[in-house]
Amino acid sequence: MSDAARECPHGLCDGGGMVVDVEQNTTYRCRCWPEQVARRRARRLSREVPKRFRNLGFEREPIPSIARDAPEVVRAVRRYCDRVDEMLDRGEGMWFLGSPGTGKSHLAYLISQTALAAGRSVAIYTGPRLLDEIRRTYGDEDSGSTLDLIDRLTSVELLHIEDLAVARPTDWVLEQLYNIINGRYENERSIVFTCDLTGDDPDANPADPRPLANHITQRNFSRLMEMCGDPLVLAGIDNRRIQVRRPAYDEVA
Ligand SMILES: Nc1ncnc2c1ncn2[C@@H]1O[C@H](COP(=O)(O)OP(=O)(O)OP(=O)(O)O)[C@@H](O)[C@H]1O
Ligand SMILES: [Mg+2]
Ligand SMILES: [Zn+2]
Repeated sequence: MSDAARECPHGLCDGGGMVVDVEQNTTYRCRCWPEQVARRRARRLSREVPKRFRNLGFEREPIPSIARDAPEVVRAVRRYCDRVDEMLDRGEGMWFLGSPGTGKSHLAYLISQTALAAGRSVAIYTGPRLLDEIRRTYGDEDSGSTLDLIDRLTSVELLHIEDLAVARPTDWVLEQLYNIINGRYENERSIVFTCDLTGDDPDANPADPRPLANHITQRNFSRLMEMCGDPLVLAGIDNRRIQVRRPAYDEVA
């Protein structure tokens, strides 16, 4: 999709962020200028959607199956997608918590796909990749490049992080995470992320957000809570394991 595809949300300019007033013979910045700047800066961020998560839709599997297992979660995602512009303008996000193979990533990608289709700037990273990119900027000659990357990660209209809790939280990791999360918090920018902290414990409650708070520190957690609201919980069996015999499983159930 082209970056210029988005029209001016205020209907004032041609989508380029400048308004030409022919009568007054002047040119001035449109109200959408800050968004246009954010969009231009976001071009250098990753927004590759992996093949598995392309062309998602509410009517296409596995979303209907996920909706059967967790109807209220998928309803909330639909509400978000229906009003994606408003949600992004307000800096509201979503987070998906739960056990492996329950559809968290499909729902998160459905949101970023909807935002991209609406012409908004989106950056998509896995937790480890995000930290890796930041780490790499430290080697650069230009000492400003880390700040510049953090800055771009802060200003993109939607930041989608897959598997936030996978990265091992060293002090350095937590500091970078704080820079990004707090930057987005202050700028009222949306975050969508998925997270699985059940680990190897079969008795772990996937709906319990406390392990995440311990994992990423209370101050990061508290900001995410305010931006993303209550977590959307997807629990139950790992659908990757039962996929091949899903029909039989359904008959029994
Ligand atoms: N409720 C469901 N019904 C049927 N299939 C599902 C359901 N949820 C997920 N799947 C299938 O399970 C696989 C995993 O889905 P997805 O990657 O979205 O899970 P996830 O929750 O992000 O897992 P992880 O925590 O391991 O990243 C996919 O092949 C998907 O089609
Ligand atoms: Mg996933
Ligand atoms: Zn404009």
